[in-house]
Amino acid sequence: MSKHRVSRRQFLNYTLTGVGGFMAAGMLMPMVRFAIDPVLKAEEGGDYIATPQKVADLTAEPTRVDFSFEQKDAWYTSEVTNTAWVYKDEKGEIVALSPVCKHLGCVVDWNKDKANPNHFFCPCHNGLYTKDGTNVPGTPPLAPLDVFPFIEKDGYLHLGKAKPRGEA
Ligand code: FES
Repeated sequence: MSKHRVSRRQFLNYTLTGVGGFMAAGMLMPMVRFAIDPVLKAEEGGDYIATPQKVADLTAEPTRVDFSFEQKDAWYTSEVTNTAWVYKDEKGEIVALSPVCKHLGCVVDWNKDKANPNHFFCPCHNGLYTKDGTNVPGTPPLAPLDVFPFIEKDGYLHLGKAKPRGEA
């Protein structure tokens, strides 16, 4: 006979602890899952958002393209409207620029400053950018406008998340 006999009381303790732990895990798992589920969820539907802009209609003149999408912040979903300035460069390649000024975040407009035609102009502190989004030295912005990655799908322009130049 072994010296390590388990008494009836010990056996009952082990059994109750095991069953109790199993039941507690069963109750806690759904709660933990509910708490962290939105964080773990992968982003849906690729990262490109459809715009109403037909690629064939783009010209060398920057066009304002407004588009909206559903944004999910954990449990909160909201409809967000965004804007891009889009044109085709001399090589016929699409350029999609963010309108958010790199100085303090105002919104730039195309060709609105009579003293500097064919520039993006920020009315907040007279910020200027050339057509390709490069900030004009001597004006407040210290970086070029962010660039949207894009794809063409069914003839329409789809835009990704705007990124600083070089990261796009
Ligand atoms: S926010 Fe655009 S120049 Fe200041």
